[in-house]
Amino acid sequence: MSEETGSEKRALGRHERFRGDYPVVVEGLRNQFGEQVVHEDLDLKVRRREILGVVGGSGTGKSVLMRSIIGLQQPAQGNIEVFGRSITEAEPDENIGIRNRWGVLFQGGALFSTLTVGENVEVPLRQFYPELSPELRREIARYKVILSGLPEEAANKFPSELSGGMRKRAGLARALSLDPELLFLDEPTAGLDPIGADKFDRLTKELQDTLGLTVFLITHDLDTLYAICDRVAVLAEKRVIAVGTIPELLETQHPWIEEYFNGPRGRAAQGTQARSDG
Ligand SMILES: Nc1ncnc2c1ncn2[C@@H]1O[C@H](COP(=O)(O)OP(=O)(O)OP(=O)(O)O)[C@@H](O)[C@H]1O
Ligand SMILES: [Mg+2]
Repeated sequence: MSEETGSEKRALGRHERFRGDYPVVVEGLRNQFGEQVVHEDLDLKVRRREILGVVGGSGTGKSVLMRSIIGLQQPAQGNIEVFGRSITEAEPDENIGIRNRWGVLFQGGALFSTLTVGENVEVPLRQFYPELSPELRREIARYKVILSGLPEEAANKFPSELSGGMRKRAGLARALSLDPELLFLDEPTAGLDPIGADKFDRLTKELQDTLGLTVFLITHDLDTLYAICDRVAVLAEKRVIAVGTIPELLETQHPWIEEYFNGPRGRAAQGTQARSDG
């Protein structure tokens, strides 16, 4: 390996990986927009290397919770630690050495429409590793595009030239651009047909397994919860009312949880899962 590649490697160098039990710890979180209180006294711990499903009715504050954890939404109260470092005490643009250790797929994708898929994937690389050569940056982006299950040519296409499912994968490729330890997915399968959603779930699980990721996965998709989530956190009444495996959640006998998992859609998802297990 040449000298030059060696130094590029150092520039990309993996910071030490988090070894604690909980890469994300949220305590006493309060979020408020004017009079509207979205979260009040919300606690949540995400375990290392789990896929945590996050569910709750529309508008219960799932996306706001995610934005708080990644430091895009300054909470009114509470503390949030990511990889053992406080996000809440840091300024949004302060370098606390962890912002390059997670990847985010925003609800709706949030790709830059004037950039190709490959250029979109390069954005975080430019931001966090400006010293990378353009060639190496392009090569890393190409690799992430393939890793996300897209054909290589997709790197040269604009988001508008892709199907909804491909756009999700492009968003995933961008989320993976910095080799994150922690991956946030906000409604990754919304708007996909059942087969596309199932494929995306498998990809998520496979990446989590092989790359050793911790995944915070907001979803309305019951099939996703049954198929790939280790635990599920339920947002209601402005807090996380329960977190556990689906059987554990059902034991709480909370009306919303019962209705959610035992309603017609919940039963259908349960049935599908039983069939694919057997
Ligand atoms: N920047 C903001 N300014 C004002 N209110 C906001 C802002 N962001 C979110 N809200 C409000 O906070 C509440 C929670 O929003 P959030 O987007 O987190 O819901 P959600 O659980 O993700 O819903 P969905 O399942 O529909 O995506 C909503 O009532 C929303 O209108
Ligand atoms: Mg949302």
